[in-house]
Amino acid sequence: MTNDVQSVLDTLFYPFQSGILACPPESRVLFLNAHMHEGLQAMAEAQLTLHQYFMPEAVKLKQNRFSSVPDIDDIEGEFDLVLILLPKNLVEAMGFIAKGLQCLKPGGMICVAGGNKTGGNRIAKHLQEFGIEDTQNETKNRARVVWANVDTYNETAVKRELGLYKPRNIIGGAFVSYPGIYGWDKIDKGSSLLLNHISAAEVKNVADFGCGYGYLCADASEKIRADMWHCIDADWRALEVAKTNMHAYGNDNCRYYWSDITADEPPVQGMDIILMNPPFHEGQKGDPEIGNAFIRSAFKALNKKGELWMVANNHLPYERGLNEHFSSVEKLAEEQGFKVYKAVK
Ligand SMILES: C[S@@+](CC[C@H](N)C(=O)[O-])C[C@H]1O[C@@H](n2cnc3c(N)ncnc32)[C@H](O)[C@@H]1O
Repeated sequence: MTNDVQSVLDTLFYPFQSGILACPPESRVLFLNAHMHEGLQAMAEAQLTLHQYFMPEAVKLKQNRFSSVPDIDDIEGEFDLVLILLPKNLVEAMGFIAKGLQCLKPGGMICVAGGNKTGGNRIAKHLQEFGIEDTQNETKNRARVVWANVDTYNETAVKRELGLYKPRNIIGGAFVSYPGIYGWDKIDKGSSLLLNHISAAEVKNVADFGCGYGYLCADASEKIRADMWHCIDADWRALEVAKTNMHAYGNDNCRYYWSDITADEPPVQGMDIILMNPPFHEGQKGDPEIGNAFIRSAFKALNKKGELWMVANNHLPYERGLNEHFSSVEKLAEEQGFKVYKAVK
């Protein structure tokens, strides 16, 4: 978890921890985009329903004995209190607010927090778009928390926003993607460059580490013939659409893993080839540690003589991590702000 997310969480729970608002033990509470926080622990007596699609955060909740669900469509019921940690993406943010309103009992409270640079200053305006005018707020830690008791809301706006926060066609129908996942509505330049450099091959097992909506693995499957494709991502929503895209490319020989690649053990073993375009500022690990954790995991997951094909931003120092583990490391390209490597175990 980044410091920014921690600050927004501190701000979200501030009204409850300071006594401005109360959450009685019998309350039914829904937390969308739930993250672990001491304020959540203080609500443990309430009936909690938690939603989290990003595996490292879901794991942290689980380690503290809180279960969570990744899909908002699996959440039903009437809640006294809905908490929302506002995501950056606007479609996702509006979708979460719409879902929260739909799940509130009449007179229930919605309480939303966001960072000043990531939409916090627009929360009251978002709520107005759903017909909620009477809000209160506090500003703290470069973040804002806004809350309101809700008797009625604009149901048409709720339906519209829930309809928008769904998998949909992107790039003229070339792929299906989910608003809110990494680079959800475009082709990643780094992945596109990596595709230009990978060689044709026929192997048993290929993995895409951090597959996103599946652009890299779907296109690569036209060059690399494999008995089985293994698509791995920490974002549950990415896998939902990667399945659709791999199927559209004629690949039904696929396994999907909702996993944290930076965890101690890789989610797969015995790979002949791993493709990867690792993230560099997501989750809890700072830049470039997350990419190095991906490299270590790929090394463990590859067969003897297995190949890692990797693209990364130019400024990230991955050569050391690659050379430390792999017997040969070749830089295939350095262009458009990226480096492409082939490393053999
Ligand atoms: C740069 S994107 C690559 C996307 C995809 N390969 C493409 O070509 O469009 C990195 C991906 O890594 C995923 N990711 C981030 N942290 C992760 C983690 N700890 N474990 C697994 N996947 C992770 C993100 O959700 C994102 O989809």
